[in-house]
Formats: sequence, structure tokens, C-alpha cells
Amino acid sequence: MARAGQVGGTATAARPTLPSPSSRAGTPLTAPAPQEAREGAAAARKVAVVTGAGSGIGRAVALALIAANWTVVLAGRRAAALEETARQVGYAGIGGPAVLPVPTDITRPDEVETLFATVRDRFGRLDLLFNNAGTFGPPAPLDELSYEDWRSVVDVNLNGAFLCAQAAFRAMKAQEPQGGRIINNGSVSAHTPRPHSIAYTATKHAMTGLTKSLSLDGRPYRIACGQIDIGNAATEMTGRMQTGILQANGRTEVEPVMDAADVARTVVHMAALPLEANVQFATVMATNMPYIGRG
Ligand SMILES: NC(=O)c1ccc[n+]([C@@H]2O[C@H](COP(=O)([O-])OP(=O)(O)OC[C@H]3O[C@@H](n4cnc5c(N)ncnc54)[C@H](OP(=O)(O)O)[C@@H]3O)[C@@H](O)[C@H]2O)c1
Repeated sequence: MARAGQVGGTATAARPTLPSPSSRAGTPLTAPAPQEAREGAAAARKVAVVTGAGSGIGRAVALALIAANWTVVLAGRRAAALEETARQVGYAGIGGPAVLPVPTDITRPDEVETLFATVRDRFGRLDLLFNNAGTFGPPAPLDELSYEDWRSVVDVNLNGAFLCAQAAFRAMKAQEPQGGRIINNGSVSAHTPRPHSIAYTATKHAMTGLTKSLSLDGRPYRIACGQIDIGNAATEMTGRMQTGILQANGRTEVEPVMDAADVARTVVHMAALPLEANVQFATVMATNMPYIGRG
């Protein structure tokens, strides 16, 4: 995946800040209300962590959750991109949506620990993890893929997703009332590969294993886990689908894409279910993309 270009966004800088529980998480909430009012209002809402919230699907889901009255903690490596997501929430006044950017590299255990400690210290509980951050890696014929490139995809898509899921699981198991939901972002590549995508395909298949194990191990603790498998939402990652991408038959073709907001609406639906109900797997894809029949 070509990393998304950094988006601007310093609009939140003038807004009041809360004291930071960590050196990495001092950025402001968006609603410029008195601290007690903000924290009181935030406590009444459910709390979500969205990884990869500075672009694409993560940003769309963060905005949709906020519109559905969730408090949302935004994670990703680029602080400016997270700030831009927070800026897009706008001012909602006292009792309005609360959003907190926490710059985090999910491949680093210490930073993941800080992220979830920040959620606990600031909001007291965690109701949802949207385990979304991911990378496609450089497309390359299998025999030409470097071990370094293989490892960097595994590190984000599998190791990072595990670290976030484990931290969320621990928080949800420990809190009162117990429980919560983890939604993993898989892919149609969790089912069927594209050419030259072995690291992405292998890690997205592994995501299905994470989802199933989390579902099983979460049962005693009211922790639900589901997976959304997306096909061709228009984001930085799918730029090549819109300009022409290698097909299984050797041709390069432009593929249909869909709006990331349509994915976000599905995630919000999954998130809103009571913990007694779970969308275990959902596939949301551009209707006419060459998936059915490509394998
Ligand atoms: N778009 C699609 O059609 C599609 C299809 C199937 C699956 N997906 C999945 O959807 C997810 C989001 O992809 P997207 O399409 O929205 O592409 P994107 O805009 O490139 O988003 C990827 C996000 O992951 C974050 N990220 C990457 N490495 C990270 C790290 N080490 N630590 C923290 N965050 C990291 C990036 O933020 P920073 O660079 O700021 O860290 C970025 O916000 C991915 O898991 C992808 O596999 C997308």
C-alpha cells in the first residue's frame, strides 16, 4: 500500500486540552466545553478505539461512530492525520461528541499499551475496538518479495492487530460491567487472493483466525468479536483499482469501487447490536467488482 499522503489539520490546536495521562496522548478533545462537562458527557456514551483513524475506512468509521453518539479514540501513526479526522467532527457543544487522537504505532507493544491505558484513564471503559489499521505492502511476484517487505506487512496486519485485540480483550474482561466488542477489518483477500499479494492475503486469512479465537475465548466474558471483509472501498489503498490493477488472467483492468461511508454504516450497525448478538462475518464490496468468479 502506498501510505496515504499526510492531510493537514491544526484546527484543533486552539481548543482547550485536558491533562494528558501520557506523553503521547495530550491532544485535545474537540468539544470546547468545561472539563467536567466534557468528561461527564463522555462517560454517558459508549467508548470506541478506531485504529487507522487518520484516513480511508478508519476515518469514515470514526466519523460515523461519532455521528451515532459514540466517544471515539483515534489511533494511527500520523498525528496530523488524526487531528484532521478530529477537526472534521466539528464543534458540537457540551454533551456533543468526544474525540481523542492518540498517535500510536500498533506494531509497538509499548505504544499499544499506552493507547489502551489512556482510554482507561480518560474514559474508564472500552466498549468497541475497530481493529482496522492495515497495509497492502508492495505488490511483487512471490519470488521477488523481500523478507523485509513480508515482515512489515505481517507486523502491521497480524502482529499489530493481535496487540490491539489483546489489549482490548484485557480491558473488556477487567471492566465493570464486563464485556465489549471487537470488530476486525479483514478483506475479501481473507477468502481469495489477488495476484502478487501473498503477504496481504496471508495476513488477512490470519485475521479470520484471530476473529474466531477472539470469539471463542471471549464467550465467558461477554466479549463479542466479528469481522468485516471489504472489497474495493475508494481509499488510498485502492488507488490502483481505479487506475488499473493486475487480474488473475494477466490483464490489467480498472475495477469498480464503492464509497467508504457505505462500509462505515455497516460497522456502526455491527457495533450497535447488544452483546448478546453478533455479526460474525460481513462482506461489503463494490457490487460489480471482479471478486465472485475471480478465484
Ligand atoms: N479499501 C478497501 O477496499 C479495503 C478492502 C479490504 C480491506 N481493507 C482494509 O481496511 C483497512 C484500512 O484500509 P484503507 O483502505 O482505509 O487504507 P488506508 O487509507 O491506507 O488506511 C490504512 C490505515 O492504517 C494505518 N496504519 C498503517 N500502519 C500502521 C501502524 N503501524 N500503526 C498504526 N496505524 C497504521 C494508517 O495510518 P498511519 O499511516 O497514520 O499510521 C492508515 O490510516 C486495512 O486493514 C485494509 O486491509 C480495505
